[in-house]
Amino acid sequence: MNASECIKTRRSIRRYKPDRIEHSLIDSIVSTASYSPSWKNTQITRYTAVEDRSVLEEIAEKFTPDYNAAIIRQAPMLIVVTFIRGRCGYERDGSFTTKKGDRWQMFDVGAACQTFCLAAKEKGLGTVIMGVFDEDGISGLLHIPEGQELGALIAIGYPDADPEAPKRKSVEELLSYR
Ligand SMILES: Cc1cc2nc3c(=O)[nH]c(=O)nc-3n(C[C@H](O)[C@H](O)[C@H](O)COP(=O)(O)O)c2cc1C
Repeated sequence: MNASECIKTRRSIRRYKPDRIEHSLIDSIVSTASYSPSWKNTQITRYTAVEDRSVLEEIAEKFTPDYNAAIIRQAPMLIVVTFIRGRCGYERDGSFTTKKGDRWQMFDVGAACQTFCLAAKEKGLGTVIMGVFDEDGISGLLHIPEGQELGALIAIGYPDADPEAPKRKSVEELLSYR
């Protein structure tokens, strides 16, 4: 699969087969995702792979809205994406480098998440990035270390659906030359 085919055929997958995912596969996806660009190569993104059903059920039940809970309940694994605070977007003295302040942190997490999802796609796995969840609840449940913050959740598994691509804007709408 070439890069543009991988990019264009990746879909948000919300239904999965129950099959377990080998840890070696997740290791290799994270290894590929480690090549994502990051602010001054700070590499702040971290991944916690949750496959314990009772923990997944607690996340679904207590810390996500129904539409995301339904995804988590039938995914074999949930990747909890966190980042190390206070490095990306900052100078050594703790001041912000640019007007965007600490927003570069989530920018880097986003680049890492997309790379993760594309690497998963190449391995035959489906993913969906989820941004709606109770951040404090999940951080407490998983004992996310002090100094790290939750960025996103990614459900992952072997796809049991083949959705159409939602409509994309035209190049004319997206691009201008000056
Ligand atoms: C930052 C972000 C947050 C998202 N949050 C959710 C979510 O909470 N639940 C969900 O089902 N999909 C979520 N999505 C998936 C989008 O709905 C999806 O990417 C979009 O509709 C385009 O579809 P595609 O990924 O199949 O191309 C999110 C995507 C991104 C990038």
